[in-house]
Order: sequence, then structure tokens, then C-alpha cells
Amino acid sequence: MPEVTLDTITNLAKKRGFVFQASEIYGGLRSSYDYGPLGVELLRNVKEAWWRTMVQERSDIVGLDSAVLQARQVWQASGHEEVFTDPLVECRNCNSRHRLDKLEDPNTCPTCGQQGTLTDPRNFNLMFRTHMGPVDSDENLVYLRPETAQGIFINFENVRRTLRLKLPFGIAQIGKSFRNEITPGQFVFRTREFEQMEMEYFCRPEEAPTWFQYWREERMKWYLELGMTEGNLRVRPHEADELSHYSSGTVDVEYSFPWGWDELEGIANRSSFDLEQHAAASGEDLTYFDQDSNERFFPHVIEPAAGATRTTFAFLIDAYTEEEVNDETRVVLKLHPRLAPYKVAVLPLSKKTELIEPAEKIAAELRRHWMIEVDTTQSIGRRYRRQDEIGTPYAVTVDFDTLQDEAVTVRDRDTMSQDRIPMTGLVDYLRGKLA
Ligand code: GAP
Repeated sequence: MPEVTLDTITNLAKKRGFVFQASEIYGGLRSSYDYGPLGVELLRNVKEAWWRTMVQERSDIVGLDSAVLQARQVWQASGHEEVFTDPLVECRNCNSRHRLDKLEDPNTCPTCGQQGTLTDPRNFNLMFRTHMGPVDSDENLVYLRPETAQGIFINFENVRRTLRLKLPFGIAQIGKSFRNEITPGQFVFRTREFEQMEMEYFCRPEEAPTWFQYWREERMKWYLELGMTEGNLRVRPHEADELSHYSSGTVDVEYSFPWGWDELEGIANRSSFDLEQHAAASGEDLTYFDQDSNERFFPHVIEPAAGATRTTFAFLIDAYTEEEVNDETRVVLKLHPRLAPYKVAVLPLSKKTELIEPAEKIAAELRRHWMIEVDTTQSIGRRYRRQDEIGTPYAVTVDFDTLQDEAVTVRDRDTMSQDRIPMTGLVDYLRGKLA
């Protein structure tokens, strides 16, 4: 199969209704994207798969949904107001702006190619600013959160106390974050508004290295179990000069994107940095009392922090396949059934009422279990190809024999093999396949 290019994926995403440019009818808002009917399902399924693994199937992790807008002191205490910056340089020749640390040659403007035209770097804070209430004054300044993590730290004691949790335990959260990135790009890879899936795992200080290793392995398992190609994933430890201000050790889970290896998720050892900062700034006691050892201390934290939108993008790229079938190119999204936007397509062979009616009946039954689509347009071959292209694992064809034998044909997306299944056993058959 030829290498998947960024253009191939963006074109498919637009053509099939996964992702649209935001404000498209007004010429588009750069780096903002809307998730269409297919994209919203894929994104929801990625988040659902994460929540299931990280919260539902575990006895030691609970969920949270904290506000996007928090008191400004949160971001002062966390260090974001002071150091959540990127080095911004501007070209005196063409006025383009760049992140110095991402330039191949720090003396050459990548837009106009001129040498020696870039300004000295200045630290540009990535947090979006807005104001609470009608007055635009400094006292009313609030930030759109740049990470979901701080919402967890400031609720540490609320959650621990209300659920009477004992170490080690985790608090997980999925939600929108905002960063005024200097150079957003590569479609939905780096955007100014995005979704994160973060979990803070609180433990005894001396256990932090063990949990760090544990979460590194668990997170790799998650991608692999959802069908991501092993050869497209790697773990890369951060160099000392890459570490965030809060981290005493970070590894990135990286994916081999069309432009090269790039970050999917960071797993960081945040030590007790955040709890100590918030305790000092708020005056609240955020220590933990261990009744068994009779000790009081600040728990340490291991944080697996993934991007929901970025991960969704990676699953889309990874699933994209081109195959030669009867001298034609078949495009298939080989998405794991749990991630596929629609699990089943119902395709009546003709638009005649005698086939539409049983097809609608079957569709109504299947809808109670899964997201499905009924497609009555075009030839059956073209409809199969369209379902392949959006990753629907199974297509149920209702034909004229159905009227006699009360059975339907079920086609498998990946093998294209077909089974004849009695209508009465269809839900069980599909349930077995999709399990
Ligand atoms: N709480 C730690 C934290 O936020 P991060 O490495 O800055 O760490 C975690 O972000 C993940 O969020 C990244 O690995 C990436 O998947 C996603 N992410 C960060 N910035 C993003 C952006 N501008 N657009 C899309 N996803 C982004």
C-alpha cells in the first residue's frame, strides 16, 4: 500500500463527514475544526474506550468533570501564568510568526527564506484570556484552561474525602482544553481548541517509579488493544531540557504520523508539585494521612495525559488502507469495531417498498443496540465501497430472497466474506461478531 499522506486523510475526513473546517462558509477559522456526523461518533468512541479502560473497569480510579473557567489563582499556583510559554520569533521581512524551538534553522525564516530577519525570541503565554462578567478589568481576568489536570488537583481533597479513597487512587477527566498555539497545524493534530483525556494517579512517594513504569505499559496496551499498528507506536523518554516545569520525568507515547514521529500522549511523574503549590497558595491542607503507617505527606502523582482529538486522528490514519480488488482500488478504514462510527449498515437491494419495509424493520431493531445507517442510494457495490470507506464493520443486505427465506446477507468489511443469517438470529450474530 502507498504511504498514507496527510492530504489523503484530510480529503477523506472532509468528503465523508468526519471533520469540517470551522466557520467554513465564512472562509474558515484557521486551526479550528468541527466534527461532522462520522467524526463525532469516532471521537465519542475513542473517549468511551478510554473511560471504560481508565474508570469503568477499575476499582481504583474515579471520574470528574471540572469547569473550564477556574479562579485565576489556579493558574498562578500551577505555574502556568508564569511559565506556560513558547519562544515566539517574528520575521522582520514577511511578518510571519514562528516557534523558535520548532525551527530547523533558527537563523532562517521558514516562510520567506530570508536569513537574519528573525527577531529575538519573546516568551508568549499560551493561555487564552477572557473576562468574567461585563467589565474587562484585570480583576475579572480568567483563562480558558490549557489542561484538564489542574481541575483534578484542586478537587483532590473533595474527591478523596467524599469517597473516602485510600492511596493509590486516580481521578480521570475528559474535556476541552485551549492553547493559543503559535503554530497550529497538521489538520487536527495541533489546534487551539482540543480535547484531552487525563488521569492523575496519586500514590505514596516511594511508589511513584513503579507506577510510572506501570502506566507506561498500560497506556501502550490500550492503543494496541484498539488495533493500532505496533510498528507505528513507540515510547520516547524526554530529554532533561524538554521536561515541563512540573515534571521530574516524562515519556511520550509517539505515533508515526505522515510527517514523522510525533507525540500522542505524555506520561509524567509530577511528584507532589501541584498539590504542594495549591496547598501553599490556597492555605488548604492537601496532604494525605496514611492510617496504617501513621504518616502525613503529599502524595506523588503519575499522569497519563492523552489528546482525545489527536488520538482520534491517529486512529483514523492508522485504519486507512488501500487494497487492489478486481483491478480497482478499495479504500477501507480498518477501524476496531469499538471505534467504528457505525457498527452496521442496512442495505436493501432495491428501493422497492417490499424491500424497504423489512429493511426499516431490521434497522429499527438494530438501532436499539448500535449506531447504524440505512443506505438506499446507488448500486449495492458502490454502497459497500462507501461503508468500507467509513469503516462500518458489517453490512446487512436485504434482497428478494429475504421475502421468502426470512434471512439476510451479512458482509464482513475486512474479508468481504458473506454469511446468510436468519433475521431472527441477526442481533445475536452481530453481537458475537462485535463483542
Ligand atoms: N496535563 C499535562 C498536559 O497537558 P501535554 O503534553 O501538554 O500535557 C497532553 O498535553 C496531550 O494533549 C498531548 O500529548 C496531546 O495529545 C494533547 N494536546 C496538547 N496540545 C494539543 C493541541 N494544541 N492540539 C491537540 N492536542 C493537543
